[in-house]
Amino acid sequence: MQTISPSQFKIGLLRNIHLSMLRWFACNSPFQTLRVAMYRKAGVSIGKPRMFGGHVWIDLWAPVKIEENVLLGGYTFILTHSWIGNAKVAPVTIKRNVEIGVRTIIMPGITVGENATVGAGSIVTRNVAADTVVAGNPARLIRTKEKTKGV
Ligand SMILES: CC(C)(COP(=O)(O)OP(=O)(O)OC[C@H]1O[C@@H](n2cnc3c(N)ncnc32)[C@H](O)[C@@H]1OP(=O)(O)O)[C@@H](O)C(=O)NCCC(=O)NCCS
Repeated sequence: MQTISPSQFKIGLLRNIHLSMLRWFACNSPFQTLRVAMYRKAGVSIGKPRMFGGHVWIDLWAPVKIEENVLLGGYTFILTHSWIGNAKVAPVTIKRNVEIGVRTIIMPGITVGENATVGAGSIVTRNVAADTVVAGNPARLIRTKEKTKGV
């Protein structure tokens, strides 16, 4: 078993408190600019958003990358860890031009492909292919979009 020194423990604890405070402000700010700025400060990679909703909760256990022009509906959860079931910690990537409906849950390790749309209230348990619309629990394919050339 790996042991940690009291000073390492204190640094870890302070880092956790710091990240939790940044996330609290990111979730609860009425201003999109502040929400994005706080999550960026907490280490989330966020391109210029199309919309970044309120009360979006991003797990900070593993890297999360949200590319350019993403619409992220309010009250969405992006998870990067699970201690329940098969324990895992895994990064999440949301590619450019993706739209995510309100109250979606993205599970650890997921990649949502370019130009995909995720319906409101979905639980995304598998990677989402580019140019598709998925929805439901678990999120399933509703239809494929026509590819937008040159975007
Ligand atoms: C997923 C979504 C984009 C699909 O819209 P659409 O292409 O117009 O699809 P339709 O409304 O024709 O529905 C197609 C099928 O998907 C189902 N469906 C649509 N949205 C769904 C959702 N969120 N969850 C589960 N099933 C859904 C419909 O019941 C329908 O099923 P059926 O063919 O068995 O009747 C849309 O329903 C949605 O969820 N939008 C997000 C809304 C939102 O979050 N707004 C705030 C941020 S802008």
